[in-house]
Amino acid sequence: MKFFVDTANIQEIKELVELGVVAGVTTNPSLVVKEGVDFHSRLKEITEIVPGSVSGEVIATDVEGMIQEGVALTKIAPQITVKVPMTVDGLKAVKVFTEMGIKTNVTLIFSANQALLAARAGATYVSPFVGRLDDIGQNGMDLVRDIRHIFDLHKVKTEIIAASIRHPQHVLEASLAGAHIATIPSKVLLQCVQHPLTDKGLDAFLKDWNNAKG
Ligand code: E4P
Repeated sequence: MKFFVDTANIQEIKELVELGVVAGVTTNPSLVVKEGVDFHSRLKEITEIVPGSVSGEVIATDVEGMIQEGVALTKIAPQITVKVPMTVDGLKAVKVFTEMGIKTNVTLIFSANQALLAARAGATYVSPFVGRLDDIGQNGMDLVRDIRHIFDLHKVKTEIIAASIRHPQHVLEASLAGAHIATIPSKVLLQCVQHPLTDKGLDAFLKDWNNAKG
């Protein structure tokens, strides 16, 4: 499983890129609005830091509007992936983008049927929202498992991005469930680096070393 960062915050991205683990970035309209910046300029900044896939979401809900916005997004940088919502118009747009050779990330996936439809329309990625399903009392990770099983069964090449990741346990479960990628908020990614026994062990090593040195 690869790691994407789920943020539009430049500082967070810069810090995590230094760790050498960031294969891409996903943004959504809520994350961009939170930063209070121009959408296209921010995507440009992100693509200058991260060589991998950078998802930018369309705001239009009609197919023509989505195509217009998506094409404009791809002019920002070659690694832009157009994020499209899982709707009838969204699927039509994915078909057109695929024919144009434009990569897509179908977002707001809450069922395996939606994921397979998006894949068949040509989606490069599908993003099942794990945390939001947990929020309504369902098991979000079961959805990731089901999608992976179906994709393997039918030899679907579309990659699964486990999204709406809320804590390190989600990260562990996403990799076990067969997600190709997890898109993770910076705070959660940094939590995954930590373990109290690592800190305790390092303290003990340094104490022993310094004691021996006198
Ligand atoms: C995915 O691409 C979305 O940006 C994101 O994971 C949504 O997560 P949330 O449910 O925490 O808003």
